[in-house]
Amino acid sequence: MTTRSPDPSRAASPSGIRREPFGSTAGGEAVERFTLTSASGVTISVLSFGGVIQSILVPDRTGALADVTLGYDTLPGYEKDKSYLGALVGRYANRIRAGRFSLDGRDYTLAQNAGGNHLHGGMRGFNKAVWSVEPLEDRGDVGLVLRHVSPDGDEGYPGTLRVQVTYRLTPIGELAIDFSATTDAATPVNLTQHAYFNLAGSGSGDILGHVLELNASRFTPVDATLIPTGELRSVRGTPFDFSTPETVGARIGADDEQLRLAGGYDHNFVLDRASASELALAARLSDPVSGRGIDIHTTEPGIQFYTGNFLDGTVMGKGGVPHRYRSGLALETQHFPNSPNEPAFPSTILRPGADHRSRTVYHFVVRD
Ligand code: BGC
Repeated sequence: MTTRSPDPSRAASPSGIRREPFGSTAGGEAVERFTLTSASGVTISVLSFGGVIQSILVPDRTGALADVTLGYDTLPGYEKDKSYLGALVGRYANRIRAGRFSLDGRDYTLAQNAGGNHLHGGMRGFNKAVWSVEPLEDRGDVGLVLRHVSPDGDEGYPGTLRVQVTYRLTPIGELAIDFSATTDAATPVNLTQHAYFNLAGSGSGDILGHVLELNASRFTPVDATLIPTGELRSVRGTPFDFSTPETVGARIGADDEQLRLAGGYDHNFVLDRASASELALAARLSDPVSGRGIDIHTTEPGIQFYTGNFLDGTVMGKGGVPHRYRSGLALETQHFPNSPNEPAFPSTILRPGADHRSRTVYHFVVRD
């Protein structure tokens, strides 16, 4: 099997950025949509609402385009969404036990919005904010700089957090996402992008036939509320071993306590990496039928692999097709869940004067 960037000769249009209105929120804030076109034929649209990646058009082996990410056609879909489809997630992506943590001798209580735990920043996380957006064109790359200020006390978090996220699409079909943040008081920070992928095309079926490889020899097992127990467990000999390529569905129904607790895969994998801060391979995903693939590199220590177990077909997505059970999967680069309560996990505490920085690159590819 060979992996290549999509064929530039098949590009629908030259690289560029289109900007258009996308309605206004229930609160009256204007929202815009930005469409990034690259010479590779990969086209990505992004909303100022939630920094949402609304669509990702990727050519297959024959050049046929499909939109490989789940989402909605209109703004009200995103305003009502509870699945974080395509959104930027913060201030803390993933769960914090009971929404509680102590920092520098003080106890904090955050919004508890997921079975008594805090999830993805709370009731109104960064996914529900209207971000300011500035287009960026640089040596053949097209991109966007998104900014958001989270006030002191937002969802219970301490300190004013200034967040910047840059999306940059390169001529060979890579989407580089740079996260940065500064604060005026110590606070936990864990930022991620929450796209759900279906490489056969959003709305086309489930993701059980996708082939996944994860560069992880350990994962963080969870309790019944999906909070890590603190253990870093070897994947060897378990359905969590994706160290060699395996279909997502091959073992998802196995008689395994961790799969039962989460109703499938909904776990953080501990990435194997030579250095703590270099960009390293995290995951390779492919749809063997169309040949579409994604290679994910990141500076983060973990990746949450979630198989859309809570999608239940009751919410209509793009083109009036419901988001059915396991019709998309998320691969969320991140620090480990509940890190503020686990001193042995890599720290997620950002202090005044320091810069939070992380980078994740999705390379959309074709595998022959
Ligand atoms: C989590 C799931 C959660 C989902 C929300 C994922 O990142 O791992 O447990 O239900 O986000 O849609």
